[in-house]
Amino acid sequence: MSQMTQDELKALVGQAALAYVVPGEIVGVGTGSTVNKFIDALAALKDHIPGAVSSSEASTARLQALGIPVFEANTVGELAVYIDGADEIDPAGHMVKGGGAALTREKIVAAQSRRFVCIADESKVVRTLGAFPLPVEVIPMAAARIARQFAALGGDARVRLKDGVPLVTDNGQHILDVTGLQISDPLAFESQVNQWPGVVTVGVFAHQKADVCLLGTPGGVKTLT
Ligand code: 5RP
Repeated sequence: MSQMTQDELKALVGQAALAYVVPGEIVGVGTGSTVNKFIDALAALKDHIPGAVSSSEASTARLQALGIPVFEANTVGELAVYIDGADEIDPAGHMVKGGGAALTREKIVAAQSRRFVCIADESKVVRTLGAFPLPVEVIPMAAARIARQFAALGGDARVRLKDGVPLVTDNGQHILDVTGLQISDPLAFESQVNQWPGVVTVGVFAHQKADVCLLGTPGGVKTLT
């Protein structure tokens, strides 16, 4: 297994996550290249689940293309499990997410789910969150003020661009990517930033942390609980 590429490691954990899908139950589905592997694997189980609640337009399109029904979050109750990737994971299961700009819907579906199973290759594991630029979805008119609030914490916030203009999320908002932070108390940090007017969602998932992490390693899938 030592020759496995990052893509193959993602496929490995995407496949391993099928073991956490509960037959007969709607599954919560995240966003990103690792989740895409999970969605592709989930097609084999599509006759055993009613469908999925999706965290992005991109995942919805991929699920539907494979014949997996997608339900609106408001039309279903609590989900048994939510499967999603991460940009960083600390040893306690706190994560930074939002590299794919889907953090708000990801946090909503995670909050609706009894269990969060994080799937990632082992390069995502860190001792302290903050090396990956922290995504924060913001109301555009508040972006400059929120950037100054991050500057007061030692962070450098930049509006994420796509094709030279601010990226617009599935929710019609913008993303700030913040570098220079060391998030040593993720729970307190998430609570603090959530208080700032104009913040839609901060990409620290500490209150909705992972219950299980499936990490793709050259030696196989490592399970952290
Ligand atoms: C999207 C996310 C993704 O889960 C995160 O960016 C990891 O993506 P990938 O599996 O492509 O590395 O939070 O908003």
